[in-house]
Order: sequence, then structure tokens, then C-alpha cells
Amino acid sequence: MSTIGVFDSGIGGLSILNEALNQSPGHQYLYLADSANTPYGEKSTQWVSERSLLMCSWLVQKGCDAVVVACNTATAQAIAMIRERFPQVRIIGVEPGIKPASATSQQKIVGVLATQNTLNSDKFKLLLASLDNNCEFIQQAGHGLVPLIEYGTLKGPEIESLLHQYLDPMLDQGADTLVLGCTHYPFLQDAIEKIYGDRLQIVDTSQAVVRQLCRLIKDPESIQNGHVDVYSTQDGNALLGLAQKLLPHPYLRNATAHTVSI
Ligand code: DGL
Repeated sequence: MSTIGVFDSGIGGLSILNEALNQSPGHQYLYLADSANTPYGEKSTQWVSERSLLMCSWLVQKGCDAVVVACNTATAQAIAMIRERFPQVRIIGVEPGIKPASATSQQKIVGVLATQNTLNSDKFKLLLASLDNNCEFIQQAGHGLVPLIEYGTLKGPEIESLLHQYLDPMLDQGADTLVLGCTHYPFLQDAIEKIYGDRLQIVDTSQAVVRQLCRLIKDPESIQNGHVDVYSTQDGNALLGLAQKLLPHPYLRNATAHTVSI
């Protein structure tokens, strides 16, 4: 059994935790949300790097053998620094799935919805430059989506109006595939499908990220019972309540909530 930390600015990384519990449930999971400081997507690069390093240090001090930086923004700004600081810990990051999307897209036109910080980052620009196919990527920052998702608002007029504002222009330009480049956005999958049906193929990389985690921890077959501890820098009980509402996983029903000051 491993101790695995999963960190995000808020509830977005729960989409990764859910997948980890499905693929490899027999571990001790520590989910850490920096809810007091969400969203990270439009904060300064230096602030996001320092804060992400601090959050991961806290998880390492709690005994994690592996840490998933379940936040595209934090990965883009800080993963190199985190890996350098903790060479003994397996550090897994997330990044927008533009490679699989370019293979999926028939039209070779792909929309990328991510935070402004992710889209502006050198890491994302290098990822784009590493693709040698002739796919066009339409980049759009999802301003305002993360705060709504943090309140548990996953559908309704406010969400739909932002989705129309961000995604309609992608379709108008011929996109047939959409990359969800922020771990909060998979919670909007139903709302996106309700509006666009099968006109947009959605690419979410959480399954691939967790497969990578399983390869690194090397005991995906663990049959022991695992446990989840949920930590928030704002209100652990509120975070757990929302997590239980969004993800009806049995492990979350029995999870323990903590409020921490980091
Ligand atoms: N869930 C995060 C991401 O994947 C961060 C969103 C935010 O805090 O702005 O980018």
C-alpha cells in the first residue's frame, strides 16, 4: 500500500482522485485542496510556483511516496521545481491532452480550454511546438468557470452562457474536438454534451494520468482497503460535502475531512 498525495487549487483534482480510486483503490490517499486561494489560473507565475511547492512539501512531510499535481496550472508553473526538490518522491503532473486530441480530430482543428496561466506557460508552448502534425489549436481561457465549479454549479444559465461564449467560436472555426485543459472542467462534461452533443469530441486525460501513477507505484493490484483523507486550506467539511455530492464513490462516503493552515 502506498501513500499518495493529490493536490489541486480546489476541487478540480477530484476528477483525478476519482479515477485513481477506480483504477487503484487500495492505497492511502491524501487529497489537498488550496480552497482558500483558488483559483490559481490568473495569479502571478511566481506566486503559483511558490505556493504549489509549499503544498507538495506539506504532502511529502505527511509521508506521501507519490504526489499527483492534479492541476494543469500548477504543473505548468512548478513541476520541474517540485521534482528537483523531492527526487525521492514520484511526482506526476497533468497537461492538456493536445496530442491525443490531434489524433482524434478529423478536421485537424482542436479547441483547447484551459486557464490563462496554463495557456501562457512555456511548458504549454513547448508542448504545442513538439507536435509535428498539421493540427490547428484554438486556445481559449475559461475565465470565470473555476469559481462557479468551486460552488458546485455545474449546469444552468451562468455555466451555459460562459460555455457558449468560449466554445461557440471554436465550432464556428471548424473545431470538432475539445481538450479540457483544466482538471476542474471534466465536471462540466454533461453541460458541454447537453449543448454540443456529438459535435465536439471531448478529450480529458485523467485516465492516462492515473495509468502513469499506477505504473510508477508498481502495485496496481493491491487488494487491501484504502482510505481517503480530504484536506482543505479553507473548510475540510465543505470540501468533503461537495466531493461526496460530485463523486458518489464509496471511499468518499467514508473519507475523513480536515481543515489545515498551510
Ligand atoms: N484545476 C486547475 C487546473 O487544472 C486550476 C484551476 C484554477 O485554480 O484556476 O488548471
